[in-house]
Amino acid sequence: MATSELPDGAAVSQTPKPKLFIRTFGCQMNEYDSAKMADVLAASDGYTRTDQPEEADLLLLNTCSVREKAQEKVFSELGRWREWKSARPGRQVAVGGCVASQEGEAIAQREKLVDVVFGPQTLHRLPALLSTTRATGRPAVDVSFPEIEKFDALPEPRADGPTAFVSIMEGCSKYCSFCVVPYTRGEEVSRPLDDVLVECAQLAEAGVREITLLGQNVNGYRGAMRGGGTCDLALLIHYVARLDGIQRIRFTTSHPLEFDDGLIEAFADEPKLANYLHLPVQSGSDRVLKLMKRNHTADVYIDKIRRLRAARPDIALSSDFIVGFPGETDADFQATMDLIAEVRCDSAFSFVYSERPGTPAANLRDGVPPEVKKQRLSILQARIQQLSMEYCRGLVGGTYPVLVERASRRGNGQMAGKLSNNRWVNFDGDERLVGEFVDVTVSEALSNSLRGRLAGAEATA
Ligand code: SAM
Ligand code: F3S
Repeated sequence: MATSELPDGAAVSQTPKPKLFIRTFGCQMNEYDSAKMADVLAASDGYTRTDQPEEADLLLLNTCSVREKAQEKVFSELGRWREWKSARPGRQVAVGGCVASQEGEAIAQREKLVDVVFGPQTLHRLPALLSTTRATGRPAVDVSFPEIEKFDALPEPRADGPTAFVSIMEGCSKYCSFCVVPYTRGEEVSRPLDDVLVECAQLAEAGVREITLLGQNVNGYRGAMRGGGTCDLALLIHYVARLDGIQRIRFTTSHPLEFDDGLIEAFADEPKLANYLHLPVQSGSDRVLKLMKRNHTADVYIDKIRRLRAARPDIALSSDFIVGFPGETDADFQATMDLIAEVRCDSAFSFVYSERPGTPAANLRDGVPPEVKKQRLSILQARIQQLSMEYCRGLVGGTYPVLVERASRRGNGQMAGKLSNNRWVNFDGDERLVGEFVDVTVSEALSNSLRGRLAGAEATA
């Protein structure tokens, strides 16, 4: 308990606000969930966030189990927290996310310092779980899937800069043979249309200009509408575009199967829809796609991209690839490289296949030697890097609208913002530009970003 002096000498006791440190592993969904955990704890117990674990009262680990490495990181991180916990009684540790969902109780049994285990769908119950464990002295575990209840129980969204994520659905029902997500996050559940629109409108009111509609498979969105019927992603995009203040819309991530004509039309008709698509394909081999249970062929993917490019000729395309899937041959890998050449992805996330217990692919015989997998990954990544550089060099000399997001992380007094195609650009500018759209002329393509100058500003040597 701290005290502060009043001018007349009377002392008033002030309880310092408890501090929260969150370590997040994994995807944008997890980043989004971590922000929501912080909101829930701020609303319930006044927690403020710190980036210094040693000064925290509560340590939260938001975990990812999509690949084995991410899962291994969880226990080594918890091991590092033991000393921290024993240094002061009353400190608490909570583990959430997909590893928590999969392992449940076993986490608290294996790591005695863990007080609470909660899943992606029960993060709103965190304050109650923390009180329970305080009262009982035993770990509290809740990794159930109470579906959409989570969204109803969350505090109002807070804007943190001019861009925001809005979760429009939870879970995934695609059951790709290699993936744990349907088991850790549950099946697809869409939020009702009105709820999504109210959240977007509140964010716009608070200064957000760009919204990313978020979910594991957003083009499976089927939101209930007030008068009956359901709204799909294309229609949702049109509704969000009509909200005052919203100037740019993105969505991630999508499965090719439901990337339909309605969405291709949205790219043709809706100028606020960003000039960027992330559409994971995983492989260019029909044989592997079948084993992955992706339910489409390489040609179906290529044809969708061809039609998309007819609607938006200069669209930037990103994808996900898995190399070294069980039994992947040289010819299968070559088919992936051919697909990349055909669709010309200018960025991608690529991974070596990681066997996930409980998924159907874990039963497949994997005869591909690890060094072959590694070599294929570096060939694929080098090709994507080359396409990325070609794409970025093609932007040099052009002038593009940029949403200014923040000061550049390089600390060189420059500002950083994103083009519609999702590329970062750094340029000389004033902090007061944050939240504004400005025209930037691209002057140089670097490997991970662009350099530019405000249109009309003099070029400097
Ligand atoms: N919804 C997206 C889609 O349509 O494919 C993907 C979401 S998944 C969590 C993100 C990416 O992780 C996948 O696209 C895939 O490339 C990768 N991934 C998932 N399971 C994996 C595994 N077992 N091994 C390696 N990479 C994996
Ligand atoms: Fe995973 Fe496939 Fe869904 S990669 S998230 S099961 S679309």
